[in-house]
Amino acid sequence: MELSANALAVLHARYLLKDERGRVIESPREMFGRIARTIAAVEKRYPNGNAPCWEERFFQLLSTRRFLPNSPTIMNAGKPAGQLAACFVLPVDDSLTGIFETLKNAALILQSGGGTGFSFSRLRPRRDIVRSTGGIASGPVSFMKIYNSATDVIKQGGARRGANMGILRVDHPDIVEFIRIKRTAAELANFNISVAVTDRFMAELAADGTYELVNPRSGAVTGTARAREVFDEIVTSAWETGDPGVIFIDRINRANPTPQLGSFESTNPCGEQPLLPYEACVLGSLNLARYARDGALDYPALGDAVRTAVRFLDNTIDANSYPLPAIEAMHKGNRKIGLGVMGWADLLVLLGLPYNHPAAFALARTAMKFIRDTARQASAALAAERGPFPNFARSIYAAQELPPLRNATVTTIAPTGTLALIADCSSGIEPYFALAYKRLVLDRELTEVNRLFLRFAEERGFASPELLRAIERRGSLRGVRSIPTGVRRLFRTALEIPLEDHIEMQAAFQEYTDNAVSKTINLPHRATREDVARAYRLAYARGCKGVTVFRYGAKKGTLVKFADVD
Ligand code: CDP
Repeated sequence: MELSANALAVLHARYLLKDERGRVIESPREMFGRIARTIAAVEKRYPNGNAPCWEERFFQLLSTRRFLPNSPTIMNAGKPAGQLAACFVLPVDDSLTGIFETLKNAALILQSGGGTGFSFSRLRPRRDIVRSTGGIASGPVSFMKIYNSATDVIKQGGARRGANMGILRVDHPDIVEFIRIKRTAAELANFNISVAVTDRFMAELAADGTYELVNPRSGAVTGTARAREVFDEIVTSAWETGDPGVIFIDRINRANPTPQLGSFESTNPCGEQPLLPYEACVLGSLNLARYARDGALDYPALGDAVRTAVRFLDNTIDANSYPLPAIEAMHKGNRKIGLGVMGWADLLVLLGLPYNHPAAFALARTAMKFIRDTARQASAALAAERGPFPNFARSIYAAQELPPLRNATVTTIAPTGTLALIADCSSGIEPYFALAYKRLVLDRELTEVNRLFLRFAEERGFASPELLRAIERRGSLRGVRSIPTGVRRLFRTALEIPLEDHIEMQAAFQEYTDNAVSKTINLPHRATREDVARAYRLAYARGCKGVTVFRYGAKKGTLVKFADVD
């Protein structure tokens, strides 16, 4: 099955079924068979379903690693009470019962292999009154610490580190405390945090104006803040630690397909999936590196894969065992799926396009538009066969003169932290972070050089031991004079790509993505606070739904975006 040593190591450590004594009891081939069988069995519930035919097609797509569903599906498909979705959002209400009820529910999600996003914006601020006790409130940040400790002690079915998203609105009175929280080492290590930034805030930032801070309990204005000062706090924290990111909450809500059912307050842990309270989503990613053919993207083959993947993800909703009835009702009401891509940097190399070439941005738009349009057609075809999603009549689509859809959303770009290791491709839509990595394998430090670069260097005859040593030292081709400039451009790594181009790529994909796009704007260590500020402003101007920066060498407690296999 041509699995790389890394892929095998990950599968053995976390994905292949084990017996009670921890011994692996399936091969990778059997694992893909288990997933295909479980997801295809759903066909039997529908009048025209053809389980054997779809089982074969799903197996083909999975076993060639052209498409992989999110980790919980790979780990849990076919297990009793197998929970298959990666993304959840839970509401946090302003009462002790509400806060601890949600913590309990979050624990159930965590245990099942999913990650949860929470907005703490409804909680009354620190030092506000607590009527029942006559005491004073301890504020959102204090409760986040409790959620964080709970995550520490609940191992996600022994398989994954716990990942949470914590959101606070920029007009919450405790916003500055929230923004600063990660500057203290080891605080909230199981959380990514983001500030929910409003259009009003961005307008005041541009005009150097002020805005009101509002107590969510009473609706009372507690004070005003100067937008630029709060923005500077965000920038300083992000420059130092990578957190907080920002999400552009009004823009996210303008893209809400079911506003009658509620508004978005939060995203899932890595930011790519805005969800309503109690909503879940199943994700899946196509490995674009497998669709390069004769120097171009093979659209007919890609289209076939998109149609099969949409059916796979829709079936996954029916095959899922949900951690809570409220979540099952929400997910089965909107039937959100998030099909995305990985292997984007690999594809560009195979097509001979540098990551930040204008033709690469253009291809991002064309390819993602094709994927979204094809996915919507597939969802409409499923609606004709199985019926539209139950909340369809209450969705924005009902007023449009288009065929009904089976799924309220169809596209999301996930980080693919572990999926990319299994598929042996570059992660999500990210450029290569380095061309050589050091890995500890059985106590021996091994250096691994980018596979496509090695092949390229061998084919063109410039591979040499000195070259490999230089790459191992630097991680990139920067300043390696023996390599032609064109090749150096083609293999440019994340820190050699200007932040404007990182954002342009995120914006290009966002244009044709129903949900959001996971992307880290990686900056070199020497990047300034002004660079971070520019990245945030530019992401807003270019239509992104949120943005995360990470300055190389900055301290960061959480790295949930990356593979958690060490
Ligand atoms: O590659 P994989 O399917 O393992 O995950 P990913 O694409 O890196 O992350 C997708 C989503 O999975 C995240 O946004 C989280 O919602 C969830 N996740 C999690 O719950 N725990 C982790 N340790 C990693 C991801």
